[in-house]
Amino acid sequence: MKAPPAETLGAFTDNDLSPEDFRRAGHAVVDWIADYYAHPERQRVLPDVLPGQLVDKLPSGAPQQGAAQEEILADFERLVAPHLVHWNHPGFMAYFAAGGSRPGVLAEALSAAVNNVGLLWYSSPALAELEEVTTRWLAVAMGLPVEWFGMIHDSASIATLHAVIAARELAAAKARESGAELDLNRIVMYTSEQAHSSVEKAMSALGRGAEACRKIRCDDRYAMRPGGLERAIARDRSAGLSPIAITATVGTTASTGVDPVPEIADIAAENGLWLHVDAAYAGAAAILPEMRRHFAGCERADSFVINPHKWLFVQMDCSVFYTARPECLRSALSLTPEYLRSSTSRAPQAQRSGQDARAVNYMEHSIALGRRFRALKLWFVLRSFGTEHLSKVLREHVRLARLLADWVAEAPDFELLAPVDFSLVCLRYRPTGASEAETDAANERLLRAVNATGEFFLSHAKLEGRYTIRVAIGNISTTEAHVSRLWELLRSLADR
Ligand SMILES: Cc1ncc(COP(=O)(O)O)c(C=O)c1O
Repeated sequence: MKAPPAETLGAFTDNDLSPEDFRRAGHAVVDWIADYYAHPERQRVLPDVLPGQLVDKLPSGAPQQGAAQEEILADFERLVAPHLVHWNHPGFMAYFAAGGSRPGVLAEALSAAVNNVGLLWYSSPALAELEEVTTRWLAVAMGLPVEWFGMIHDSASIATLHAVIAARELAAAKARESGAELDLNRIVMYTSEQAHSSVEKAMSALGRGAEACRKIRCDDRYAMRPGGLERAIARDRSAGLSPIAITATVGTTASTGVDPVPEIADIAAENGLWLHVDAAYAGAAAILPEMRRHFAGCERADSFVINPHKWLFVQMDCSVFYTARPECLRSALSLTPEYLRSSTSRAPQAQRSGQDARAVNYMEHSIALGRRFRALKLWFVLRSFGTEHLSKVLREHVRLARLLADWVAEAPDFELLAPVDFSLVCLRYRPTGASEAETDAANERLLRAVNATGEFFLSHAKLEGRYTIRVAIGNISTTEAHVSRLWELLRSLADR
């Protein structure tokens, strides 16, 4: 191969940054991050920018000549940072928080440095075994069955897709046992009308239209009605369809509603259906003993998902998926290409020692082959804070949500639109004498006005057709002072 011109490699060692330059630039990056974390409120939580502004500031092609790290970091600060949404800001109360924490940053840096790729146990024993350990630690902390198989995906949407794939596999195996063939064009599943869109998407991804995901009506607490579920299953069976699964939610996206999992688990058992529990946001609360009642029956699920990147201060992306039936995933997804077979899915040293059965090859349980070392940040966060401190922070968030809910309940021109079971408050301004349409419009204006201050970022949902302002408390640095300031703003900006 022809050697590259000497000047191209001038600043580099082994084609990469020299160790000295890396150290210097690394220190500058850590300093930037430390300052950023020390003063999150210096920035507007939502940038005041328009689409295309960043694109217009950047060249249309990649540079031919490399630049110094100092220059790139300065451009990051000058050009990129003004377009950031500050998910780490204590005033970020939109969607669900995904703010991470400082130990999570350190772990991500190490994970990027070692850049391990989880294919087989052999391709990174550290990744595979830390994933096994951390998912077990989390199961124990949450009171979930310790023998469940745990693995870490990027998102709850992908975790739920895996649940539906496993459910289809189980249904196909049961059909074969009874001498029949599962007609994939006739499979249906069930969830509530308040479930996250990822459930419906999973069914679409399997080639069934979204209508094959039946959305069962909820009660006035936004929880699935088990009677409606039973009737829908019976109706579908008599129409010759094949029910395969139910997804129950603990902590729905719009209002944190909790489906009655014990009753739903009975229905799943009676009908031989896979039960998946989506606790992507609220699952973290299961580490609090006083919150366990919301998770009753979850131990009977076939699969369960919780996102530590939502409310457990782990950096995006970290979605922990559990299943009591890993063999269904393996039977659906264990296609080992030859090049991975030749390096042996069980490592030679493991075979020699007779320990090969202990080697977990996560690729056999997932669509993704190469997987990031996500367990490292979960390990750092669990070790840095311990479950005691994590519990303290979550408990405080729940207290802050209840405090805001109390203020709302006492205010004559505001109202709550859903029970506050976790750390989300669904509220709206209720101007006297206003129609529903006028009330919706007033709340849309109010949300825009609050977000325009740059102090807070709130999002909305529709509950029973009513426009609802969602205040999702979940950032590690949010305090009572922030919640009190938000309440002051909500009242002062209403109907401006
Ligand atoms: C209850 C619930 N499930 C699933 C999801 C999807 O999560 P992800 O973005 O990890 O796919 C969300 C997102 O907020 C959610 O609230």
